[in-house]
Amino acid sequence: MPNNSESHKHDFFYRQAKKEKYRARSAYKLIDLQNKFNLFKRAFYILDLGSAPGSWLQVSKNLAEENLKKYSDQFYHRDQYKIMGVDIKKLAPIDNVIIVNNDFTTKLFQEQIEDYFQDKLDLILSDASIKKTGNKFSDHIKQLQLCNEVLLIIKANLKHKGNAVIKVFQGSDFDRFAKEMKSLFRFVKSYKPKSSKKKSNETFLVGLQKI
Ligand SMILES: C[S@@+](CC[C@H](N)C(=O)[O-])C[C@H]1O[C@@H](n2cnc3c(N)ncnc32)[C@H](O)[C@@H]1O
Repeated sequence: MPNNSESHKHDFFYRQAKKEKYRARSAYKLIDLQNKFNLFKRAFYILDLGSAPGSWLQVSKNLAEENLKKYSDQFYHRDQYKIMGVDIKKLAPIDNVIIVNNDFTTKLFQEQIEDYFQDKLDLILSDASIKKTGNKFSDHIKQLQLCNEVLLIIKANLKHKGNAVIKVFQGSDFDRFAKEMKSLFRFVKSYKPKSSKKKSNETFLVGLQKI
């Protein structure tokens, strides 16, 4: 029997990430979300919460660079993108991306957002995750507490009609949280990307067009 570190090498998305030089297989979760919901449409100012090791930042940078060319027209566009990632863990640098080593639930982080962007954001992503204990119920509740912090950041910083994604764990309070999110966005959808492992109870709530 292969051990865990050997068996993941047989995983399609793990191998694909190695080939395409993404820092983690989770890159394909964001690519799948983008293909399904076109979250990055006209997104230039992007915040990624819980970024380590950085694959969502890599995907965001690629899509923001495409947007500079694709949406250089008389409608909403910006001449440059700004991307900020934050994590308690240290991340290796990425050119033209600001990486903050901090807890995003702190007051200082809100100041760091305002200092850097000086404006409202087009897109807020959160693949942030608590450290799982294995107790599905308490992990679900703790993850939702973290998601509530993400909602506060969305309320304070996302522009009108901006989009957001939040990783949640399914469980008893999922519907209550989804309802909370529905009060902020015109459309809210739940989606589990193909690359998200079946045994994981993670899913993503996608908020489109902030009210
Ligand atoms: C699944 S990983 C993110 C993977 C990342 N999206 C990627 O593609 O490389 C979740 C991250 O959330 C971070 N995290 C959890 N709570 C946080 C907090 N309050 N502030 C900053 N980072 C946090 C963890 O340290 C962890 O690195």
